[in-house]
Amino acid sequence: MAPLKAFSSLLLAAAAAARQCSLFQIPVEISSRQGQFRKVPVEGNLDVGAFATRFNEFQKNYTATLLQGYQTLQGKYDISAQYCRPDSGSSGSIQLLTHGIGFDKTYWDLDYNNYNYSYVNTALAAGYSTLAIDRLGIGNSSHGDAFNEIQAQAEVEALNAVTLKLRNGSIKEIGASYHTVIHVGHSFGSVQSYWLSALYPENTDGLVLTGFSVAAQFLPYIVAGWNLHSARLNQPLRLGNASDEGVRKLVSQYNVDKGLVPGLQRILGAAGLDLTSDDIWNAVATTEVLDLITGYNETVFQYDYPSGYLVSSDLTALQYAFLYPGNYDIGIALAGETTKQPVTVGELLTIGSSPSSSPFTGPVLVITGEHDVPFCGGNCYANLPNSTAENIPAGVAAAYPKSSAFEAYIQPGTGHGLNFQYNATAGYEVIQKFLASNGLGA
Ligand SMILES: *[C@@H]1O[C@H](CO)[C@@H](O)[C@H](O)[C@H]1NC(C)=O
Ligand SMILES: *[C@@H]1O[C@H](CO)[C@@H](O)[C@H](O)[C@H]1NC(C)=O
Ligand SMILES: *[C@@H]1O[C@H](CO)[C@@H](O)[C@H](O)[C@H]1NC(C)=O
Ligand SMILES: *[C@@H]1O[C@H](CO)[C@@H](O)[C@H](O)[C@H]1NC(C)=O
Ligand SMILES: *[C@@H]1O[C@H](CO)[C@@H](O)[C@H](O)[C@H]1NC(C)=O
Ligand SMILES: *[C@@H]1O[C@H](CO)[C@@H](O)[C@H](O)[C@H]1NC(C)=O
Ligand SMILES: *[C@@H]1O[C@H](CO)[C@@H](O)[C@H](O)[C@H]1NC(C)=O
Ligand SMILES: *[C@@H]1O[C@H](CO)[C@@H](O)[C@H](O)[C@H]1NC(C)=O
Repeated sequence: MAPLKAFSSLLLAAAAAARQCSLFQIPVEISSRQGQFRKVPVEGNLDVGAFATRFNEFQKNYTATLLQGYQTLQGKYDISAQYCRPDSGSSGSIQLLTHGIGFDKTYWDLDYNNYNYSYVNTALAAGYSTLAIDRLGIGNSSHGDAFNEIQAQAEVEALNAVTLKLRNGSIKEIGASYHTVIHVGHSFGSVQSYWLSALYPENTDGLVLTGFSVAAQFLPYIVAGWNLHSARLNQPLRLGNASDEGVRKLVSQYNVDKGLVPGLQRILGAAGLDLTSDDIWNAVATTEVLDLITGYNETVFQYDYPSGYLVSSDLTALQYAFLYPGNYDIGIALAGETTKQPVTVGELLTIGSSPSSSPFTGPVLVITGEHDVPFCGGNCYANLPNSTAENIPAGVAAAYPKSSAFEAYIQPGTGHGLNFQYNATAGYEVIQKFLASNGLGA
């Protein structure tokens, strides 16, 4: 297995020079009518496992079980954003990019392999500006109570507030208004973009829903497959706030009194393996030890997520959920695992509560990987019981009865995490082509 790849700073500078990007916080004020849930224990990993067990029970509805009533959440929050525009200037047309569960805004601009997986670069080359946000609650956006604050509806309200600010030119770091805002989502980010188009159809000009369908029955596959753990326990140095010393104590079960690598070398040596230190890192890369020690070598930013923020357990869970085996670079998967982000219990309890259709009248593209697990059960060409749609993504058309154009595209050889697969950029081109041929060219 190849180790995490380093990229040359020279090449990085060259890629960065072709565009104008900046990072900043966008303050938003929202009011969200949403659930008030009874809290259940989510401190330890067994508590989290129990939550997943109950969430997945066949023909039961854990959302209904925990729902005590409704509340109106009102608050001021910060949304972390990366804004980019082409060197040649802004065309007045922007793609607003919303990531899915397990990722943050960097999903759209992966720095791996000199940025050749970057969706942002493809959109810029087609003449669009881009704004990629960390969803409310995640990454460098404001965090909050995992049950009753960070829910889907609140995130949709935050996305809408950002949209309005793009339109009226009130984001001071951008200093211009956008007359055309295209909402591009991935997975839960597509659910939220769809949801926005249902509640505020006049606020979007076009929808690109990647890693999406309206089939709800496969959600338990991924919730089980993630093998969810508490985020702060899974990557204590990065997703929690543990001290290096604390983590050394935690991993003392690996006999690491003289350092992690010598400790592991001793254990593996006893098993008859003579491994170099790079071999050691590779040997632990597909285990939860990688997560436990992420940040051990270097200082990482500590997100300090509270309890109720959950993550998939390790690289094998990431592969099941997001990557079609055999069609991705192990290095980018490792990068994904060491930069992964959590999901809140409130998000899981509300992910299925979107309106059942949208009155949006503009163009809609759905693009989903052929082998997508959470939205197609691993086979997007399948037909759902009682559906007359040609395939699973095509079934989204029924939710957009008034759209001016609708297309469902299946990206071949690809899992749910489209941007991580070898052929990702060809899929990006399908998106730009759809926009250009439906009156939304930059
Ligand atoms: C589960 O219960 C919630 C809350 O009552 C409801 O909004 C949702 O539609 C239900 N889900 C299903 C699949 O019935
Ligand atoms: C959040 O901010 C920290 C500190 O600036 C940075 O290291 C990290 O990469 C940022 N993460 C995201 C998702 O923007
Ligand atoms: C722009 O929109 C935001 C969000 O709706 C609003 O708070 C702000 O007052 C508006 N600013 C102007 C100048 O219209
Ligand atoms: C680390 O997180 C724990 C649990 O949320 C909290 O009690 C503690 O104050 C935090 N420590 C620091 C240094 O922030
Ligand atoms: C730690 O350093 C080793 C050796 O340089 C490297 O191969 C590995 O990827 C690093 N691991 C982590 C978790 O940062
Ligand atoms: C499918 O259609 C049959 C016959 O019309 C009906 O009895 C059944 O309830 C439907 N199933 C679903 C899942 O809608
Ligand atoms: C990026 O480049 C590598 C080879 O350097 C290639 O294997 C990979 O498919 C490329 N990725 C994309 C998304 O084009
Ligand atoms: C790569 O993606 C493009 C666009 O979807 C598709 O036409 C092509 O067949 C794909 N190539 C492979 C090898 O799957």
